[in-house]
Amino acid sequence: MRVALVGARGHGARHVENLLRLGHDGVATFVGVVDVAEVDVPVPSYPDLPSLAAELHPEIVVISSPPSTHRDLVLSAFALGCDVLVEKPALLSVADFDEISSAAAARGLVCQVGFQSQGTGSYRRLCSLIGSGALGDIAGIGAAGRWVRTDSYYERAAWAGRHGEDGTLVNPFAHALQNVLLLADVEERTDIAVELELFRCRDTITADDTSCVRVTADGAPPVVVAATLCASTSLPPVVLVHGSLGQAVWWYDDDRLTVNDHKMAVPPTVDLLENLIRHRQSGEPLVAPLAAARAFTAVVEACGKAEVPLVPARRVGDRAVLDGIDEVVVRAAEKIATFTELGCGFGR
Ligand SMILES: NC(=O)c1ccc[n+]([C@@H]2O[C@H](COP(=O)([O-])OP(=O)(O)OC[C@H]3O[C@@H](n4cnc5c(N)ncnc54)[C@H](O)[C@@H]3O)[C@@H](O)[C@H]2O)c1
Repeated sequence: MRVALVGARGHGARHVENLLRLGHDGVATFVGVVDVAEVDVPVPSYPDLPSLAAELHPEIVVISSPPSTHRDLVLSAFALGCDVLVEKPALLSVADFDEISSAAAARGLVCQVGFQSQGTGSYRRLCSLIGSGALGDIAGIGAAGRWVRTDSYYERAAWAGRHGEDGTLVNPFAHALQNVLLLADVEERTDIAVELELFRCRDTITADDTSCVRVTADGAPPVVVAATLCASTSLPPVVLVHGSLGQAVWWYDDDRLTVNDHKMAVPPTVDLLENLIRHRQSGEPLVAPLAAARAFTAVVEACGKAEVPLVPARRVGDRAVLDGIDEVVVRAAEKIATFTELGCGFGR
């Protein structure tokens, strides 16, 4: 299967590595790269997708460029008859989501989204534990994200820290949000209610760096994600599933899962691009199809429309630290509560 990559630097470097691995294993042919910048890759590079396609005829396009470029690039790939693996956030509005979904259906093409934790064995094991009733009734699902990011994090790309395109839930903790929506089985629902509290601790950015969202839907357990990039100390992102028979703790970045403190065995990880290739060759179901990003996209759009007030934080060298936030994000995930409900001074 012939695969092209759009956007080779930044996160794209991981796709380059993966494509070279798949080339070595004979699973895919890495035909070339599209990038607006000069890139150092061992395949031909082109300034745009049509010029690459005219010479190299890809069947799949991997898109790892900034979020605001995704819509046009996915449409361009579809117009060339290619299936797509697009990085998260795939799209920034529900209107774009609907347009791309219709375009894919009309052309008989598919779009996989770069939510790699949906390919992990720990995710599949957790879904099976919830689905079988082994955890009992699920009262709520929470996620806590707590990272330390220095000023340079926002200097790496023009879109970093830009409201509407970046933000805690839209980019760094997008996986946490998508994961809780999936586990609550509301990922495709159009009738979700979204409560958002977004804040920023730096006046040099317009997007949030500290946020809490609660999503509810009839008949589904409520979910909360509380996350910050202004922590005192980092913590691997964690999802808590509160069941009447057990609590599951899932560290999705580490593919690690415990239930009532017992470590669970997990099956092997499925690579998203390999899965897309097998989907095309033998009809294997996609593990992260665009359809499963409907509710996620609605939250992303809501984030882009929400106010993002500046809150006073402490400067520590090249970092902003929001005192007390380390404990608050964990408590929000434990209690399925918002910052305001937890009595935070910066909550509304
Ligand atoms: N799945 C994950 O865990 C994960 C991790 C990090 C980033 N991402 C996502 O990957 C995407 C890229 O993020 P990044 O931080 O690497 O961005 P970036 O700004 O570093 O850009 C990545 C590459 O795209 C190129 N580019 C920019 N505009 C382009 C255009 N119009 N056409 C072609 N190439 C273009 C850049 O030159 C660069 O080489 C984002 O959607 C981001 O959210 C996903």
